[in-house]
Amino acid sequence: MKRILSGVQPSGKPHLGNYLGAMRQHIEMQKDYECYLFIADLHALTTVKDRDQMIQQTYDLALSYLALGLDPKKTVFFKQSALPEHTELCWILDCITKMPFLERAHAWKDAQAKGKKEISVGLFNYPILQAADILLYQPDLVPVGQDQKQHIEMTRDIAQTFNTTFDKVFKLPDPFIKEEVAIVPGTDGQKMSKSYGNTIDIFAEESVLKKQVMGIVTDSTPVKEPKDAEKCNVFRLYKLIASKEETKELENKYTKGGFGYGDAKKTLLDKILKHFGEARDKYNELTPKENYVYSVLEDGAKRAQVVAKATLDDVKTKIGYKL
Ligand code: TRP
Repeated sequence: MKRILSGVQPSGKPHLGNYLGAMRQHIEMQKDYECYLFIADLHALTTVKDRDQMIQQTYDLALSYLALGLDPKKTVFFKQSALPEHTELCWILDCITKMPFLERAHAWKDAQAKGKKEISVGLFNYPILQAADILLYQPDLVPVGQDQKQHIEMTRDIAQTFNTTFDKVFKLPDPFIKEEVAIVPGTDGQKMSKSYGNTIDIFAEESVLKKQVMGIVTDSTPVKEPKDAEKCNVFRLYKLIASKEETKELENKYTKGGFGYGDAKKTLLDKILKHFGEARDKYNELTPKENYVYSVLEDGAKRAQVVAKATLDDVKTKIGYKL
């Protein structure tokens, strides 16, 4: 069975874009792969500088994965900061990586282009910590979004450098990018993102969810006229969670006319509530069960450490730290 590994930054309660873009794939993959999934709270420290926020966002993400169907017996699910191996390997990789190589990273170049002068060393070093995260587990594949492709390429280069400088330890992982992960439109038509304030939050209270869906921006075609479904944000979102038949049915209503955007929004809201019904119930059921959620992460950390420590021991042996 092939092994996959992925990490997700804890950014709080997930929205539809997070789910369709990554979470759904992570959860589905546990059927066919040996899965390792961690909450990238060390990476989150590059932006989150508040204790309560760190705790809350990490907890919300863990809870959300469990509610959405992650099975902790199948997937090794843990918090990155629970394992010192990640930062330890990071330092070792730091010492075999050249500055100009890191300066080519998109995230760094973008930050520079925006004139951000106060970039932390941690943010600059972000790709190396990510390489350490990955290489510790010797995965075959790393499922990520298109935006992370460069980080996986850098990981392969760093692994190769280590293997040729010392001795072969690391397997070179391949990125696993599901092409059909379309851009999920937000309520204003731009890419759905917390920073744009255009999200649909799958675990929000029903009244909030309703407000978000009813607030989706549409054009002003009158109710009785035919409408172009593909141009409508409501339809584009519906399509991402409905079946082919349901999508076709809704499309027909658009083209026929006599069907308003208010009706379409109602259809979408019902669909979301139905699609996430079970997950929403589970979310509410697990919310007060802190001990359970934390014990899942602790158990995951123990299982992850067996693998991470074995790789790091091998690294230390090849370097000459371990006889
Ligand atoms: N950088 C990734 C993101 O923002 C998160 C991440 C950290 C990650 N470490 C990883 C993803 C290792 C895959 C593998 O999405």
